[in-house]
Amino acid sequence: MRALVNTPGGPGRVNLARDVPEPMPVPNEAVVAVEAVSLNRGELALLAARPAGWRPGQDIAGTVVTAATDGSGPPAGTRIAGLTAGAGWSERVAVPTHQLAVLPAGTDLVAAATLGIAGRTALRTVALGGNLLGRRVLVTGAAGGVGRFQTQPAALAGAEVVAVTRRMGSVKALLDAGAAAVVAHAADAEGLFDLVLDGVGGRSLSSAVAKVAPGGTVLLVGASVPEPAQLTLLDFLGHENAMVRSYFSYAQPETTDRDLTALVRLLADGRLTPHIGFRAPWTSANEALAALAEGEVDGKAVLTVE
Ligand SMILES: NC(=O)c1ccc[n+]([C@@H]2O[C@H](COP(=O)([O-])OP(=O)(O)OC[C@H]3O[C@@H](n4cnc5c(N)ncnc54)[C@H](OP(=O)(O)O)[C@@H]3O)[C@@H](O)[C@H]2O)c1
Repeated sequence: MRALVNTPGGPGRVNLARDVPEPMPVPNEAVVAVEAVSLNRGELALLAARPAGWRPGQDIAGTVVTAATDGSGPPAGTRIAGLTAGAGWSERVAVPTHQLAVLPAGTDLVAAATLGIAGRTALRTVALGGNLLGRRVLVTGAAGGVGRFQTQPAALAGAEVVAVTRRMGSVKALLDAGAAAVVAHAADAEGLFDLVLDGVGGRSLSSAVAKVAPGGTVLLVGASVPEPAQLTLLDFLGHENAMVRSYFSYAQPETTDRDLTALVRLLADGRLTPHIGFRAPWTSANEALAALAEGEVDGKAVLTVE
């Protein structure tokens, strides 16, 4: 079968290989015919670090072709959104049945492919804020894959959301997603926030601390900017007892099943609207990865397996 494989040092980051072995599922894995995949910023780092021939790909959507032999999960013919540990950018992949969610009829597979990493991270990080009814949430990197997914559920949960983005072309979409205001820099946001979701890092993290309410939480989700933040205790004067906390979605695998199911339900109900800024056949994988690396993808990049 065909699959995208890592080609470090090559002209592109990946190559579409045609002679990759078929997946060998263990009993709790279904084999899925992949129809769409989405890209994540973390995959850029993985491609750079892993050897030639390594197979990337975590977010997938497609149709079950072989059900799991242990009887778990959906039967063949079921359309699903799934999350794999890797090798998802393939014609077929084996997926543990607790890492896939059944798609209701009519759900767009391209939209469903965006849910795994970014959707789950957004859902979990918003949930870490607790009861958000009437509270204030600041989202940085708001036009990125994770940031766009954070704005909508936080607003749905009753928060006043202020979105921070460099992309002025994304202001309307973020307001439509429920943001009360959109600013270019965290420093421009008025007032203090109970929850700051920072997917950018570096100076953005320092600004996040300047915007957190006393006792509030800064949740550090990303390090899109490689430079470290500088913080001292004195930066917390006026923000006393605020907490800076990290979040890694891979360290919370036990919620994957219910998170994907919740995300699929929100998608099917129209309460979660993925923004797909790059969509192309998987033969354009290198263009998609380059655009992601350059920060040119508004929302998510999706490749269709054709
Ligand atoms: N902790 C976890 O479990 C987890 C899970 C998924 C992702 N992540 C991390 O979370 C971060 C966001 O992920 P993502 O998929 O949303 O990435 P993304 O689509 O590339 O979005 C990153 C956003 O950061 C903002 N940004 C500001 N300055 C930037 C710069 N110099 N370079 C690049 N981006 C800059 C941009 O937002 P604007 O365009 O709005 O300005 C950009 O869209 C990444 O660092 C990713 O590795 C962490």
